[in-house]
Amino acid sequence: MLFSLLPRFLKEILQAGSEAASAEPSLMPAVDPPALEEPIFSSTKVKEIIQKVRPYSMVPDSGLEFLIEAVQSVIDQKIAGDFIECGVWKGGCAAAMKLTESALQPRSTRLLHLFDSYEGLPPTQPVDGPMAQSWQQAVDSPWYFDNCMASLELVQQNFSQLRLLDTTVRFYKGWFEATVPQFVQHNPETKIAILRLDGDWYESTKVCLENLYPLVSEKGIVIIDDYYAWDGCAVAVHEYLGKHGFNHRIRSLPDFSSAYIIKQAHRQA
Ligand SMILES: C[S@@+](CC[C@H](N)C(=O)[O-])C[C@H]1O[C@@H](n2cnc3c(N)ncnc32)[C@H](O)[C@@H]1O
Repeated sequence: MLFSLLPRFLKEILQAGSEAASAEPSLMPAVDPPALEEPIFSSTKVKEIIQKVRPYSMVPDSGLEFLIEAVQSVIDQKIAGDFIECGVWKGGCAAAMKLTESALQPRSTRLLHLFDSYEGLPPTQPVDGPMAQSWQQAVDSPWYFDNCMASLELVQQNFSQLRLLDTTVRFYKGWFEATVPQFVQHNPETKIAILRLDGDWYESTKVCLENLYPLVSEKGIVIIDDYYAWDGCAVAVHEYLGKHGFNHRIRSLPDFSSAYIIKQAHRQA
């Protein structure tokens, strides 16, 4: 639309905005964006971890690299709390968290909670969007991965092969809708440093946010793997943040392969 055709009040707002943008000092309140700490590991060490877990994860290297950095960052910043993954598949991301932590804090007692049906994804619903519905119907596609099915025994075997199976690793088999609220009921004091949500669909994401987001520590990191992949996941995130009036910003990995939130007020007073 031509500027001259705009109503006067809109012109004034736009003009005020452009003057403010060029004025010094800025009228915008200062923003202090939260950030991950500088990585501690060399790129060789990161590549080594990715190589070890590659057979057990469908998350791209960029996502695994970010996860490894997130673990280093919460350790470096001494953020209290356990690591949780909801949506484990063959255990690759979970193993990357554990391998990173073990390298930095070999005697850590931090727990790793792993929630999954260990029998694949539940059926999609209309809110998950047409692409998700077509994906689940295309059972012969090379991207179907047997409906993301990996048994608990297989995940435990993978952990064992990587020498990661110890008492700090806890497995919760069943649908999130049952296991996640039950976990919170029995462990109300739990704090979470990293919450990794990888359950693909609306309902799976929603139930995890409602029950686990309140337990995430200040400056803890919530990774939302499917934010860009599937519509229902994005809807669940927007609904949850909106319903609670949270101003926490949704951030993206540079390649938009996933999104994350650092649970921290966006603007400092
Ligand atoms: C895309 S896969 C996870 C990928 C994995 N994080 C990786 O590193 O490759 C999604 C997983 O979420 C699980 N899942 C999704 N919704 C669930 C629900 N409501 N309850 C239990 N498990 C669920 C599926 O069983 C599947 O293992």
